[in-house]
Amino acid sequence: MTTAPDAGTTEPAHAAEVRVGLDALLDFTAAVFRHHGLPQDRATTAARALVHGDLTGVTSHGLTNLTRLYLKLFADGRCDPAAEPEVLADQGAAVLLDSHKALGLWAASEAVDLAAGRALEYGVGLVTVRGATHLGCAGAHAKRAADRGMICLLVSNCGQQRIIRPPGGRAAMLGTNPLAFATPAGPRPPFVLDMSTTVVPTGRVRGAARAGKDIPEGWLEDAEGRPVTDPDALDRGDGYLKWLGGDPETGAFKGYGLGLLVETLGAMLPGAGLGPEPEAWSGSGSPSGQDDNIGFTVLVIAPAELRRKDEFEAQAAGLFDALTGSPAVREDRPVRYPGWFEGERATEYEKSGVPLSAALYEELRQVAAERGLTAPAALDD
Ligand SMILES: NC(=O)c1ccc[n+]([C@@H]2O[C@H](COP(=O)([O-])OP(=O)(O)OC[C@H]3O[C@@H](n4cnc5c(N)ncnc54)[C@H](O)[C@@H]3O)[C@@H](O)[C@H]2O)c1
Repeated sequence: MTTAPDAGTTEPAHAAEVRVGLDALLDFTAAVFRHHGLPQDRATTAARALVHGDLTGVTSHGLTNLTRLYLKLFADGRCDPAAEPEVLADQGAAVLLDSHKALGLWAASEAVDLAAGRALEYGVGLVTVRGATHLGCAGAHAKRAADRGMICLLVSNCGQQRIIRPPGGRAAMLGTNPLAFATPAGPRPPFVLDMSTTVVPTGRVRGAARAGKDIPEGWLEDAEGRPVTDPDALDRGDGYLKWLGGDPETGAFKGYGLGLLVETLGAMLPGAGLGPEPEAWSGSGSPSGQDDNIGFTVLVIAPAELRRKDEFEAQAAGLFDALTGSPAVREDRPVRYPGWFEGERATEYEKSGVPLSAALYEELRQVAAERGLTAPAALDD
């Protein structure tokens, strides 16, 4: 396997690493969700979405968020494991749901499956959701449609969370607003573009803070726009994430524009919480707001309902063949595309076990002990 060191890996490599079999990890994660009140099938789906991060190397949004995010949401009542999403409007090809604080890790996969079902009927399916909670790796959900030969766009805002300032603005107004887009790529791993619309998501800054490492210039800026390399500045409230593109001169308005695309399509459309509110600048202008009442929107297109399936598949294979076969600057770094390395890693880790940092593995053992569950065995034990 050819692995670019930076491809999708969102936390520094740890010296001490533990490998755990994929099935054991999925079973354990589902058991934790089950313990907190999720029905078995939902717990299984949510576990698959969360473990996707570790399985694909997107460690900033994998199991590290179990204790830091999801268990806290349950404890604080900000996520309702027994919630029943409600259909507020159903126009066949377009559906509006109120998630009623259901676990986003489950609800987003469910929304993709619902949109895919509608796409098979109408050629296109749109599911837009209010009242949602954090859905983890957006790409984990979008990939479900690509695995069924369809095209999927998924966008999610961060509720009323305000961390990032508009270019030229003094008050933080928006969240890291992730966007994922997935299509089949023939026999190769699907094309899965899965990204925050900021230079990096918060998880990557916090990962550096946990590892005691400085962050590169270009991730955070201070109130006056000067570079910040101390990752703790983010949670202190004196470091602001930058938009994809960096500064206005280097394309910040493209990242900001994508962030607004996510905010409008993902949250304004379904009527979810929005980051931008007058109160954000009426006080000190400091970052505020929680990522509650998140909105997300899923759009699935079924090419086979519009054109011959075999012709679409041949074209998809040809497109990604042409790209990956094109000449590379460095021989040891062939041309690839988003989703390639994640797909390669998943194939490898399914066989050899999913690598977890020793610290994360210890966290999982504690989660198990506190709940009377069995921790997943390390393969090296
Ligand atoms: N739920 C939320 O609120 C939230 C918010 C922000 C981010 N996220 C998630 O955080 C995760 C990480 O986001 P990120 O912005 O750090 O992603 P990233 O910067 O690691 O990767 C962004 C994209 O670039 C591609 N890429 C990166 N390096 C590559 C290479 N060398 N070759 C080919 N492709 C390459 C990846 O495949 C990916 O599609 C995503 O899963 C995202 O959905 C979630």
